[in-house]
Amino acid sequence: MALDPVRSPLVSGMVHVTDSAEIEEILKSSSFIQVASRVGHSQLIPGALSTLDGLEHSQRRRIESKLFRPDRIEYYRQAALLPSMAAAMDELRSLKDASGVVRTDLVPLTWRMAQAIPAVLAGIDGAGDAAGAATLTTYVKDIAAAVTIGWQVGDHEEILRRGLEARAALRRDFFDSSVARRRNLLAEVRAGRRAAGDVPRDLISLLLQNLRPDEDAGTILAETMMFLMASITTTAGAFPHFIVRLLDWMADHPEYRPELVNQDFIQRAVNESLRFFVASPARLREAREDCLLASTGRRVTAGAKFALWFVPANMEAATFGPDALEFNPLREDGRNRPWGLAFGAGPHSCIGRTVITGFPRRTADGGSAHVYGTMTTLALHLFEAGLEIDPDSPPRLTSSTFYDEYVSLPVTLTAL
Ligand code: HEM
Repeated sequence: MALDPVRSPLVSGMVHVTDSAEIEEILKSSSFIQVASRVGHSQLIPGALSTLDGLEHSQRRRIESKLFRPDRIEYYRQAALLPSMAAAMDELRSLKDASGVVRTDLVPLTWRMAQAIPAVLAGIDGAGDAAGAATLTTYVKDIAAAVTIGWQVGDHEEILRRGLEARAALRRDFFDSSVARRRNLLAEVRAGRRAAGDVPRDLISLLLQNLRPDEDAGTILAETMMFLMASITTTAGAFPHFIVRLLDWMADHPEYRPELVNQDFIQRAVNESLRFFVASPARLREAREDCLLASTGRRVTAGAKFALWFVPANMEAATFGPDALEFNPLREDGRNRPWGLAFGAGPHSCIGRTVITGFPRRTADGGSAHVYGTMTTLALHLFEAGLEIDPDSPPRLTSSTFYDEYVSLPVTLTAL
Protein backbone atom coordinates (compact mmCIF):
# COMPACT_ATOMS: atom_id res chain seq x y z
CA MET A 1 0.00 0.00 0.00
CA ALA A 2 1.36 3.45 -0.90
CA LEU A 3 1.46 6.02 1.91
CA ASP A 4 -1.33 8.61 1.90
CA PRO A 5 0.37 11.91 0.90
CA VAL A 6 -2.39 14.03 2.46
CA ARG A 7 -0.85 12.94 5.78
CA SER A 8 2.58 14.30 4.89
CA PRO A 9 3.70 17.03 7.33
CA LEU A 10 4.76 18.99 4.23
CA VAL A 11 1.17 19.91 3.38
CA SER A 12 -0.25 20.33 6.87
CA GLY A 13 -1.71 23.80 7.24
CA MET A 14 -1.95 24.30 3.47
CA VAL A 15 -5.17 24.92 1.55
CA HIS A 16 -6.05 21.67 -0.24
CA VAL A 17 -7.47 22.03 -3.75
CA THR A 18 -8.92 19.16 -5.79
CA ASP A 19 -11.14 20.95 -8.31
CA SER A 20 -9.51 20.86 -11.76
CA ALA A 21 -10.69 24.34 -12.84
CA GLU A 22 -9.42 25.90 -9.61
CA ILE A 23 -6.07 24.07 -9.86
CA GLU A 24 -5.64 25.22 -13.43
CA GLU A 25 -6.49 28.81 -12.51
CA ILE A 26 -3.87 28.79 -9.73
CA LEU A 27 -1.21 27.21 -11.97
CA LYS A 28 -1.80 29.82 -14.67
CA SER A 29 -2.14 32.85 -12.38
CA SER A 30 0.72 35.31 -11.86
CA SER A 31 -0.62 35.86 -8.30
CA PHE A 32 0.96 32.51 -7.31
CA ILE A 33 4.59 31.43 -7.17
CA GLN A 34 6.42 28.16 -6.58
CA VAL A 35 6.79 27.37 -2.87
CA ALA A 36 10.41 28.39 -2.39
CA SER A 37 11.07 27.29 1.18
CA ARG A 38 11.78 23.69 0.29
CA VAL A 39 15.15 22.84 1.82
CA GLY A 40 16.04 20.36 -0.91
CA HIS A 41 15.47 22.87 -3.70
CA SER A 42 17.56 25.60 -2.13
CA GLN A 43 20.45 23.27 -1.21
CA LEU A 44 20.59 21.11 -4.32
CA ILE A 45 19.19 22.95 -7.32
CA PRO A 46 19.22 26.70 -6.54
CA GLY A 47 18.38 28.74 -9.63
CA ALA A 48 17.05 25.80 -11.68
CA LEU A 49 14.11 26.47 -14.00
CA SER A 50 11.48 24.89 -11.74
CA THR A 51 12.48 27.20 -8.86
CA LEU A 52 12.22 30.45 -10.87
CA ASP A 53 9.19 32.66 -11.39
CA GLY A 54 8.15 35.59 -13.58
CA LEU A 55 10.48 37.09 -16.18
CA GLU A 56 13.54 35.13 -15.09
CA HIS A 57 11.58 31.91 -15.53
CA SER A 58 10.14 32.79 -18.93
CA GLN A 59 13.52 33.92 -20.29
CA ARG A 60 15.23 30.68 -19.25
CA ARG A 61 12.34 28.60 -20.47
CA ARG A 62 12.39 30.27 -23.89
CA ILE A 63 16.07 29.32 -24.31
CA GLU A 64 15.52 25.73 -23.20
CA SER A 65 12.40 25.13 -25.26
CA LYS A 66 14.75 24.70 -28.26
CA LEU A 67 15.62 21.29 -26.80
CA PHE A 68 12.05 20.14 -27.34
CA ARG A 69 11.51 20.97 -31.00
CA PRO A 70 10.01 18.02 -32.91
CA ASP A 71 13.23 17.31 -34.83
CA ARG A 72 15.16 17.12 -31.54
CA ILE A 73 12.69 14.69 -30.03
CA GLU A 74 12.95 12.45 -33.06
CA TYR A 75 16.74 12.71 -32.80
CA TYR A 76 16.77 11.69 -29.08
CA ARG A 77 14.59 8.73 -29.88
CA GLN A 78 16.80 7.50 -32.72
CA ALA A 79 20.17 8.35 -31.18
CA ALA A 80 19.53 7.47 -27.53
CA LEU A 81 16.37 5.53 -26.77
CA LEU A 82 16.33 2.90 -29.52
CA PRO A 83 20.03 1.91 -29.17
CA SER A 84 19.73 1.67 -25.35
CA MET A 85 16.61 -0.39 -25.69
CA ALA A 86 18.30 -2.72 -28.19
CA ALA A 87 21.33 -3.15 -25.88
CA ALA A 88 19.11 -3.89 -22.86
CA MET A 89 17.10 -6.47 -24.83
CA ASP A 90 20.35 -8.18 -25.89
CA GLU A 91 21.45 -8.40 -22.25
CA LEU A 92 18.06 -9.76 -21.22
CA ARG A 93 18.28 -12.41 -23.94
CA SER A 94 21.40 -13.75 -22.26
CA LEU A 95 19.36 -14.37 -19.06
CA LYS A 96 16.97 -16.91 -20.61
CA ASP A 97 16.37 -19.97 -18.44
CA ALA A 98 16.10 -23.56 -19.74
CA SER A 99 12.50 -23.00 -20.85
CA GLY A 100 13.43 -19.83 -22.75
CA VAL A 101 11.85 -17.47 -20.20
CA VAL A 102 13.56 -14.35 -18.85
CA ARG A 103 12.70 -13.25 -15.30
CA THR A 104 13.57 -9.69 -14.44
CA ASP A 105 12.42 -6.69 -12.42
CA LEU A 106 10.72 -3.95 -14.40
CA VAL A 107 11.63 -1.21 -11.90
CA PRO A 108 15.44 -1.19 -12.37
CA LEU A 109 14.98 -1.95 -16.06
CA THR A 110 12.75 1.11 -16.43
CA TRP A 111 15.19 3.34 -14.55
CA ARG A 112 17.91 2.32 -16.95
CA MET A 113 15.77 2.97 -20.03
CA ALA A 114 14.31 6.20 -18.65
CA GLN A 115 17.73 7.86 -18.48
CA ALA A 116 18.65 7.30 -22.14
CA ILE A 117 16.97 10.40 -23.59
CA PRO A 118 17.53 12.73 -20.62
CA ALA A 119 21.30 12.07 -20.54
CA VAL A 120 21.66 12.98 -24.22
CA LEU A 121 19.25 15.90 -23.94
CA ALA A 122 21.12 17.30 -20.93
CA GLY A 123 24.56 16.72 -22.46
CA ILE A 124 25.89 14.17 -19.97
CA ASP A 125 28.63 12.11 -21.61
CA GLY A 126 29.56 8.63 -20.41
CA ALA A 127 26.10 7.29 -19.49
CA GLY A 128 25.51 5.44 -22.76
CA ASP A 129 26.61 1.97 -21.63
CA ALA A 130 25.02 -0.19 -18.92
CA ALA A 131 27.62 0.69 -16.27
CA GLY A 132 27.43 4.44 -16.92
CA ALA A 133 23.64 4.35 -16.96
CA ALA A 134 23.54 2.46 -13.66
CA THR A 135 25.91 4.92 -11.96
CA LEU A 136 24.03 7.94 -13.27
CA THR A 137 20.65 6.61 -12.14
CA THR A 138 22.00 5.87 -8.63
CA TYR A 139 23.10 9.50 -8.32
CA VAL A 140 19.85 10.84 -9.78
CA LYS A 141 17.79 8.76 -7.32
CA ASP A 142 19.66 10.16 -4.32
CA ILE A 143 19.57 13.71 -5.66
CA ALA A 144 15.83 13.44 -6.37
CA ALA A 145 15.10 12.14 -2.87
CA ALA A 146 16.98 15.09 -1.37
CA VAL A 147 15.34 17.67 -3.65
CA THR A 148 11.89 16.33 -2.76
CA ILE A 149 12.80 15.84 0.90
CA GLY A 150 9.46 17.10 2.15
CA TRP A 151 7.81 14.02 0.62
CA GLN A 152 10.35 11.54 1.99
CA VAL A 153 9.86 9.41 5.07
CA GLY A 154 12.82 8.74 7.40
CA ASP A 155 15.90 10.61 8.54
CA HIS A 156 15.85 13.85 6.55
CA GLU A 157 19.40 14.84 7.50
CA GLU A 158 20.69 11.55 6.14
CA ILE A 159 18.65 11.88 2.92
CA LEU A 160 20.03 15.37 2.42
CA ARG A 161 23.58 14.22 3.13
CA ARG A 162 23.27 11.43 0.57
CA GLY A 163 21.80 13.86 -1.98
CA LEU A 164 24.69 16.29 -1.57
CA GLU A 165 27.18 13.45 -1.86
CA ALA A 166 25.46 12.24 -5.03
CA ARG A 167 25.57 15.75 -6.45
CA ALA A 168 29.35 15.90 -5.84
CA ALA A 169 29.78 12.46 -7.41
CA LEU A 170 27.68 13.37 -10.45
CA ARG A 171 29.80 16.48 -10.88
CA ARG A 172 33.05 14.49 -10.56
CA ASP A 173 32.10 11.48 -12.71
CA PHE A 174 29.97 13.05 -15.45
CA PHE A 175 29.34 16.76 -15.30
CA ASP A 176 32.78 18.42 -15.19
CA SER A 177 34.15 16.48 -18.16
CA SER A 178 30.92 17.01 -20.14
CA VAL A 179 31.13 20.77 -19.55
CA ALA A 180 34.86 20.86 -20.34
CA ARG A 181 34.33 19.07 -23.67
CA ARG A 182 31.62 21.53 -24.69
CA ARG A 183 33.63 24.58 -23.56
CA ASN A 184 36.55 23.40 -25.73
CA LEU A 185 34.31 22.77 -28.73
CA LEU A 186 32.74 26.22 -28.38
CA ALA A 187 36.19 27.83 -28.10
CA GLU A 188 37.28 26.05 -31.29
CA VAL A 189 34.16 27.24 -33.08
CA ARG A 190 34.86 30.81 -31.97
CA ALA A 191 38.46 30.47 -33.21
CA GLY A 192 37.15 29.31 -36.59
CA ARG A 193 38.73 25.86 -36.28
CA ARG A 194 35.39 24.03 -36.18
CA ALA A 195 31.91 24.30 -37.61
CA ALA A 196 29.11 25.28 -35.20
CA GLY A 197 27.42 21.98 -36.09
CA ASP A 198 30.18 20.07 -34.22
CA VAL A 199 28.85 21.29 -30.87
CA PRO A 200 26.15 18.97 -29.46
CA ARG A 201 22.75 20.68 -29.29
CA ASP A 202 22.05 19.90 -25.65
CA LEU A 203 21.21 21.66 -22.39
CA ILE A 204 24.80 22.17 -21.23
CA SER A 205 25.91 23.64 -24.59
CA LEU A 206 22.84 25.85 -24.70
CA LEU A 207 23.44 27.21 -21.22
CA LEU A 208 27.17 27.74 -21.84
CA GLN A 209 26.19 29.95 -24.77
CA ASN A 210 23.41 31.80 -22.98
CA LEU A 211 24.55 32.34 -19.38
CA ARG A 212 24.03 35.81 -17.94
CA PRO A 213 27.04 37.42 -16.18
CA ASP A 214 25.51 36.62 -12.76
CA GLU A 215 25.19 32.92 -13.58
CA ASP A 216 28.01 30.34 -13.53
CA ALA A 217 28.76 26.61 -13.67
CA GLY A 218 26.73 26.24 -10.45
CA THR A 219 23.60 27.30 -12.34
CA ILE A 220 24.37 24.83 -15.13
CA LEU A 221 24.91 22.03 -12.61
CA ALA A 222 21.62 22.83 -10.84
CA GLU A 223 19.75 22.98 -14.14
CA THR A 224 21.29 19.74 -15.40
CA MET A 225 20.39 17.92 -12.19
CA MET A 226 16.85 19.29 -12.24
CA PHE A 227 16.36 18.20 -15.86
CA LEU A 228 17.74 14.73 -15.14
CA MET A 229 15.52 14.20 -12.12
CA ALA A 230 12.40 15.83 -13.63
CA SER A 231 12.61 13.52 -16.62
CA ILE A 232 14.04 10.26 -15.27
CA THR A 233 12.16 9.91 -11.97
CA THR A 234 8.81 10.76 -13.57
CA THR A 235 9.18 8.31 -16.44
CA ALA A 236 10.59 5.58 -14.19
CA GLY A 237 7.73 6.13 -11.71
CA ALA A 238 4.96 6.25 -14.31
CA PHE A 239 5.94 3.29 -16.48
CA PRO A 240 5.44 0.38 -14.03
CA HIS A 241 2.04 1.86 -13.05
CA PHE A 242 1.09 1.98 -16.71
CA ILE A 243 2.09 -1.66 -17.27
CA VAL A 244 0.13 -2.84 -14.22
CA ARG A 245 -3.01 -0.91 -15.23
CA LEU A 246 -2.89 -2.02 -18.85
CA LEU A 247 -2.27 -5.71 -18.11
CA ASP A 248 -5.00 -5.67 -15.44
CA TRP A 249 -7.38 -4.20 -18.00
CA MET A 250 -6.30 -6.80 -20.59
CA ALA A 251 -7.21 -9.59 -18.16
CA ASP A 252 -10.84 -8.41 -18.46
CA HIS A 253 -10.62 -7.57 -22.18
CA PRO A 254 -8.58 -10.41 -23.73
CA GLU A 255 -9.96 -9.64 -27.19
CA TYR A 256 -7.72 -6.52 -27.22
CA ARG A 257 -4.47 -8.41 -26.54
CA PRO A 258 -3.29 -8.11 -30.19
CA GLU A 259 -3.33 -4.32 -29.61
CA LEU A 260 -0.41 -4.67 -27.20
CA VAL A 261 1.90 -4.35 -30.20
CA ASN A 262 -0.03 -1.51 -31.82
CA GLN A 263 1.72 1.78 -31.04
CA ASP A 264 -1.42 3.91 -31.53
CA PHE A 265 -3.25 1.82 -28.96
CA ILE A 266 -0.28 1.81 -26.55
CA GLN A 267 0.09 5.60 -26.77
CA ARG A 268 -3.62 6.05 -25.98
CA ALA A 269 -3.24 3.69 -23.03
CA VAL A 270 -0.15 5.59 -21.82
CA ASN A 271 -2.06 8.88 -22.02
CA GLU A 272 -4.98 7.40 -20.10
CA SER A 273 -2.70 5.89 -17.43
CA LEU A 274 -1.08 9.27 -16.79
CA ARG A 275 -4.40 10.58 -15.42
CA PHE A 276 -3.84 8.23 -12.48
CA PHE A 277 -0.17 8.98 -11.95
CA VAL A 278 1.24 12.23 -10.67
CA ALA A 279 4.83 13.29 -10.95
CA SER A 280 4.64 14.71 -7.42
CA PRO A 281 1.95 13.82 -4.84
CA ALA A 282 0.75 17.44 -4.88
CA ARG A 283 2.03 20.59 -6.55
CA LEU A 284 2.66 23.44 -4.14
CA ARG A 285 2.09 27.15 -4.71
CA GLU A 286 2.08 30.29 -2.56
CA ALA A 287 -0.10 33.38 -3.13
CA ARG A 288 2.11 36.42 -3.50
CA GLU A 289 -0.84 38.83 -3.25
CA ASP A 290 -4.47 38.89 -2.18
CA CYS A 291 -6.72 37.69 -4.99
CA LEU A 292 -10.07 36.19 -5.89
CA LEU A 293 -10.27 32.91 -7.79
CA ALA A 294 -12.91 33.23 -10.51
CA SER A 295 -13.36 29.45 -10.91
CA THR A 296 -14.66 28.92 -7.37
CA GLY A 297 -15.07 32.40 -5.85
CA ARG A 298 -12.40 31.57 -3.23
CA ARG A 299 -10.77 34.61 -1.61
CA VAL A 300 -7.03 34.16 -1.19
CA THR A 301 -4.76 36.05 1.19
CA ALA A 302 -1.14 36.82 0.34
CA GLY A 303 1.19 34.21 1.85
CA ALA A 304 -1.39 31.38 1.85
CA LYS A 305 0.12 28.09 0.69
CA PHE A 306 -1.77 25.68 -1.55
CA ALA A 307 -1.47 21.92 -2.14
CA LEU A 308 -2.90 21.10 -5.57
CA TRP A 309 -4.03 17.47 -5.83
CA PHE A 310 -4.00 16.37 -9.46
CA VAL A 311 -5.34 12.81 -9.06
CA PRO A 312 -8.84 13.72 -7.81
CA ALA A 313 -8.93 16.58 -10.34
CA ASN A 314 -8.16 14.06 -13.10
CA MET A 315 -11.12 11.89 -12.09
CA GLU A 316 -13.90 14.40 -12.84
CA ALA A 317 -16.81 12.76 -14.64
CA ALA A 318 -17.70 16.07 -16.33
CA THR A 319 -14.49 15.81 -18.38
CA PHE A 320 -13.73 12.10 -18.51
CA GLY A 321 -17.21 10.60 -18.48
CA PRO A 322 -19.22 8.55 -16.00
CA ASP A 323 -16.51 5.84 -15.72
CA ALA A 324 -13.78 8.42 -15.01
CA LEU A 325 -12.55 6.48 -11.96
CA GLU A 326 -11.66 3.50 -14.12
CA PHE A 327 -8.68 2.98 -16.39
CA ASN A 328 -10.05 2.68 -19.91
CA PRO A 329 -7.65 2.94 -22.86
CA LEU A 330 -10.64 3.14 -25.23
CA ARG A 331 -11.96 6.31 -23.55
CA GLU A 332 -13.29 8.95 -25.94
CA ASP A 333 -14.12 11.63 -23.33
CA GLY A 334 -11.38 14.15 -22.53
CA ARG A 335 -9.52 13.41 -25.77
CA ASN A 336 -8.23 16.99 -26.11
CA ARG A 337 -6.08 16.44 -22.98
CA PRO A 338 -6.41 12.73 -22.16
CA TRP A 339 -3.79 12.89 -19.38
CA GLY A 340 -5.76 15.59 -17.52
CA LEU A 341 -3.41 17.71 -15.40
CA ALA A 342 -0.62 15.10 -15.32
CA PHE A 343 1.79 17.54 -16.98
CA GLY A 344 0.55 20.57 -15.06
CA ALA A 345 -0.63 23.82 -16.68
CA GLY A 346 0.54 27.40 -17.07
CA PRO A 347 4.12 28.70 -17.17
CA HIS A 348 5.67 25.74 -15.28
CA SER A 349 3.79 23.03 -17.18
CA CYS A 350 6.00 20.13 -18.20
CA ILE A 351 8.46 21.28 -20.84
CA GLY A 352 9.18 17.64 -21.74
CA ARG A 353 5.62 16.45 -22.25
CA THR A 354 6.05 15.49 -25.91
CA VAL A 355 8.97 13.21 -25.00
CA ILE A 356 6.29 11.10 -23.31
CA THR A 357 3.10 11.72 -25.30
CA GLY A 358 4.77 12.06 -28.70
CA PHE A 359 3.24 14.36 -31.29
CA PRO A 360 1.63 14.27 -34.73
CA ARG A 361 3.83 15.19 -37.67
CA ARG A 362 3.44 15.68 -41.40
CA THR A 363 4.92 13.00 -43.64
CA ALA A 364 6.81 13.68 -46.88
CA ASP A 365 3.76 12.64 -48.96
CA GLY A 366 1.50 15.19 -47.19
CA GLY A 367 -0.10 12.67 -44.84
CA SER A 368 0.25 12.60 -41.08
CA ALA A 369 1.93 10.20 -38.68
CA HIS A 370 2.57 10.12 -34.96
CA VAL A 371 6.00 10.24 -33.34
CA TYR A 372 5.55 8.03 -30.29
CA GLY A 373 6.74 8.83 -26.78
CA THR A 374 9.29 7.06 -24.58
CA MET A 375 6.81 4.96 -22.63
CA THR A 376 5.15 3.73 -25.84
CA THR A 377 8.48 2.69 -27.32
CA LEU A 378 9.50 0.86 -24.13
CA ALA A 379 6.15 -0.89 -23.89
CA LEU A 380 6.15 -1.94 -27.55
CA HIS A 381 9.57 -3.62 -27.24
CA LEU A 382 8.60 -5.34 -24.00
CA PHE A 383 5.21 -6.54 -25.23
CA GLU A 384 6.86 -7.85 -28.41
CA ALA A 385 9.17 -9.78 -26.05
CA GLY A 386 6.11 -11.31 -24.34
CA LEU A 387 6.04 -9.19 -21.16
CA GLU A 388 3.78 -10.45 -18.36
CA ILE A 389 3.70 -9.66 -14.66
CA ASP A 390 5.32 -12.58 -12.81
CA PRO A 391 2.46 -14.37 -11.04
CA ASP A 392 4.92 -15.98 -8.59
CA SER A 393 6.54 -12.80 -7.23
CA PRO A 394 4.23 -10.05 -5.98
CA PRO A 395 5.08 -6.42 -6.78
CA ARG A 396 6.05 -4.06 -3.94
CA LEU A 397 5.20 -0.38 -3.50
CA THR A 398 7.57 1.93 -1.66
CA SER A 399 7.01 2.95 1.94
CA SER A 400 9.99 5.29 2.16
CA THR A 401 8.30 8.14 0.32
CA PHE A 402 4.86 9.66 -0.18
CA TYR A 403 5.34 9.18 -3.93
CA ASP A 404 3.21 6.39 -5.35
CA GLU A 405 6.04 4.23 -6.69
CA TYR A 406 6.91 0.59 -7.16
CA VAL A 407 10.22 -0.56 -5.68
CA SER A 408 9.88 -3.91 -7.37
CA LEU A 409 7.73 -5.30 -10.19
CA PRO A 410 8.89 -8.79 -11.17
CA VAL A 411 8.02 -9.67 -14.78
CA THR A 412 8.62 -12.45 -17.27
CA LEU A 413 9.53 -12.18 -20.94
CA THR A 414 8.47 -15.27 -22.81
CA ALA A 415 9.12 -14.34 -26.44
CA LEU A 416 12.60 -12.82 -26.49
C1 HEM B 1 5.56 10.76 -17.12
C2 HEM B 1 6.42 11.73 -17.30
C3 HEM B 1 6.30 13.13 -16.77
C4 HEM B 1 5.35 13.71 -15.99
C5 HEM B 1 4.10 13.07 -15.41
C6 HEM B 1 5.75 15.09 -15.79
C7 HEM B 1 5.02 16.02 -15.06
C8 HEM B 1 5.41 17.33 -14.85
C9 HEM B 1 4.63 18.31 -14.14
C10 HEM B 1 3.29 18.08 -13.49
C11 HEM B 1 5.32 19.49 -14.16
C12 HEM B 1 4.85 20.83 -13.59
C13 HEM B 1 5.45 21.14 -12.26
C14 HEM B 1 4.83 22.35 -11.57
O1 HEM B 1 3.93 23.00 -12.10
O2 HEM B 1 5.26 22.64 -10.46
C15 HEM B 1 6.57 19.22 -14.86
C16 HEM B 1 7.57 20.14 -15.04
C17 HEM B 1 8.75 19.86 -15.67
N1 HEM B 1 9.06 18.74 -16.39
FE1 HEM B 1 7.94 17.07 -16.53
N2 HEM B 1 6.93 15.31 -16.45
C18 HEM B 1 7.29 14.15 -17.08
C19 HEM B 1 8.39 13.95 -17.90
C20 HEM B 1 9.32 14.91 -18.20
C21 HEM B 1 10.39 14.75 -19.15
C22 HEM B 1 10.61 13.52 -20.02
C23 HEM B 1 11.14 15.90 -19.10
C24 HEM B 1 12.36 16.31 -19.87
C25 HEM B 1 12.92 15.58 -20.82
C26 HEM B 1 10.52 16.77 -18.10
C27 HEM B 1 10.99 18.01 -17.72
C28 HEM B 1 10.32 18.88 -16.89
C29 HEM B 1 10.87 20.17 -16.48
C30 HEM B 1 12.26 20.71 -16.80
C31 HEM B 1 9.87 20.79 -15.71
C32 HEM B 1 9.95 22.16 -15.05
C33 HEM B 1 9.29 23.17 -15.97
C34 HEM B 1 9.24 24.56 -15.40
O3 HEM B 1 9.30 24.74 -14.18
O4 HEM B 1 9.11 25.50 -16.21
N3 HEM B 1 9.42 16.14 -17.60
N4 HEM B 1 6.59 17.91 -15.29
